[in-house]
Amino acid sequence: AIERTLSIIKPDAVAKNAIGEIIARFEKAGLRVVAAKMLKLDDDKAGGFYAEHKERPFFKDLVGFMTSGPVVVQVLEGEDAIAKNRDLMGATNPKEAAPGTIRADFAETIDANAVHGSDSAESAAREIAYFFQDSEICPR
Ligand code: CMP
Repeated sequence: AIERTLSIIKPDAVAKNAIGEIIARFEKAGLRVVAAKMLKLDDDKAGGFYAEHKERPFFKDLVGFMTSGPVVVQVLEGEDAIAKNRDLMGATNPKEAAPGTIRADFAETIDANAVHGSDSAESAAREIAYFFQDSEICPR
């Protein structure tokens, strides 16, 4: 089915000037960017996004990292977009990410892991609404 998913290009990948290379991978895989913006997250916005991880030991570092520089948030649309994006990203820990995945090629550590992608239809709906108004999404 045609789905939408939220993608974030994280501060490490933005700092590496890899925005274009990462978006090219989405487009080459048949995903369409239907919304995009660059943002500098603050503690509240990053903490709210990752609220499900609030009690995890890595939460403080995660928020610190995600507010360390600008990010690019996008809505990707296409056939099986949620799973397709996760396949393109590779494992959360870049040391475990399959060769040729975004995290294998651009990420250094489990914190600075280049990209975020929604992990389910429910997360995708919540995460898209967290960053975008309906009027900012351009179906095509
Ligand atoms: P992301 O997919 O954005 O979702 C939560 C993030 O927490 C994850 O990517 C990692 O960058 C970060 N993180 C740090 N430590 C861990 C961990 N032990 N398990 C899962 N995620 C972690």
